[in-house]
Amino acid sequence: MSFLGIDVGTSSVKLLLADTTGRVLQTLSKDYPVYYPKAGWAEQNPEDWWNATTEGIREILNRSQMESREIQGIGLSGQMHGLVLLDKENRVLMPALLWCDQRTQDECDELSEKLGSKLSEYTGNRALAGFTAPKVLWVRRHRPEIYKQIEHVLLPKDYIRWKLTGEYATDVSDASGTLFFDVAHRCWSPEMLDILGLSETHLPTCYESYEITGAVTEQAARESGLHTSTLVVGGGGDQASGAVGTGVVTAGTVSVALGTSGVVFACQENYSVDRQNRLHSFCHANGKWHVMGVMLSAASCLKWWVEEVCRLDDAGFAVLLEEAARIPPGSEGLIFLPYLMGERTPYSDPHARGTFIGLTMTHGRGHMTRAILEGVGFGLCDSLEIIREQNIPIHEVRVSGGGAKSYLWRQILADIFGQPIHVVNSVEGPAFGAAILAAVGAGEFAGVEEACNQMIKTVKQTEPIAANVEKYKFIYEIYHQLYATLEKSFRDLSRI
Ligand code: XUL
Repeated sequence: MSFLGIDVGTSSVKLLLADTTGRVLQTLSKDYPVYYPKAGWAEQNPEDWWNATTEGIREILNRSQMESREIQGIGLSGQMHGLVLLDKENRVLMPALLWCDQRTQDECDELSEKLGSKLSEYTGNRALAGFTAPKVLWVRRHRPEIYKQIEHVLLPKDYIRWKLTGEYATDVSDASGTLFFDVAHRCWSPEMLDILGLSETHLPTCYESYEITGAVTEQAARESGLHTSTLVVGGGGDQASGAVGTGVVTAGTVSVALGTSGVVFACQENYSVDRQNRLHSFCHANGKWHVMGVMLSAASCLKWWVEEVCRLDDAGFAVLLEEAARIPPGSEGLIFLPYLMGERTPYSDPHARGTFIGLTMTHGRGHMTRAILEGVGFGLCDSLEIIREQNIPIHEVRVSGGGAKSYLWRQILADIFGQPIHVVNSVEGPAFGAAILAAVGAGEFAGVEEACNQMIKTVKQTEPIAANVEKYKFIYEIYHQLYATLEKSFRDLSRI
């Protein structure tokens, strides 16, 4: 028997077929566009997710030469915080507003002013522009005709679940990112629903990530080639799923995800919040909790550099990384601030901007590429430092996501963090984690931790180089002060 993980990502849907020993049988991804109708806005068409998913499932079944009934379970993972609205005929009311959409700062300010510390009491978190609750308020204010027709509020992966199973359901880890979920008690927050003018009937039923939420319907089977005996478990937000996919399910292990966003994620046995809410406090997919810091642009900084600025294709990544590898650590005094879409952790500032600081005539393309890799590393280090400050143990750091494929980037991270970096047997963290959650839901394992122990192995380790660690400590101090120096200029620039 095998299990299918489906990760509804920002740039593509990733599918991964695994067996119960953790052997990855097939992986595949299908791209779809992100629309940026205004600076700071980011939208997608939920139908694009579904079309890419069904196309991908057909292809993966075809490639594996597997009977569809051999897929015992599906786990869903996906970009978090996105707002999908359906009317009473289940029609999508407007494009989905994504996690990286920054249009809701006014709504966040209102929530913070109105609720003060109650907001953290109700939800475990503070109001951040990417979260779902301020998006609902934005729709109420700016698209009242749409707000009136809202019948169902879903998260991106749960739209795919609805298409697959006909069920309106979600899981606790993804629900945690809505800001209308009571993370401590693992249920919707009545106080927050009241503020948004919603009731529980608008919301999906919330499950633990490994619980079964439904089975594939006949219609979905026809559209995707799947079998109606295949079960669908709760799954998780991409970060919780990714943590499962890298075996980050016990205290002391930390996951660093180098995807479009950059995330530092630490497991917790019990619920806790950092007093200033700098870290997100969310439910984990293993029945416990986690904290995390999220950078809005991580591997996407490199993608922007390679594709938009250097105008190179896929092969261009390797060329630029080779150039960067020839530049010494510290990029000879050049620093990149990776705030291309504003920032969330630690600054929560939609107006923050990407910046190169320290350019001279001696700097070239290799320096700039290396500075980008380092700038993302420093940004991740900001979150790691907050986790360290909370005395959360960090015994092992596991890195995943597209950026983890680069040896150079892994070395830079090990040197900036001053800790060894581990890579496990799948870098497709979220899709792999979702497949594991499906295996747990199908009863193959007693729990998520047992499944991870059996399926996940460390395959590579990158050790920090002492001289580089010292150098980066010095540069990190400079990096760390730059945001405060530039904050006002960023705000002024955003008015132009
Ligand atoms: C997590 C977050 C991102 C998105 C997209 O809080 O915003 O990880 O889920 O990857």
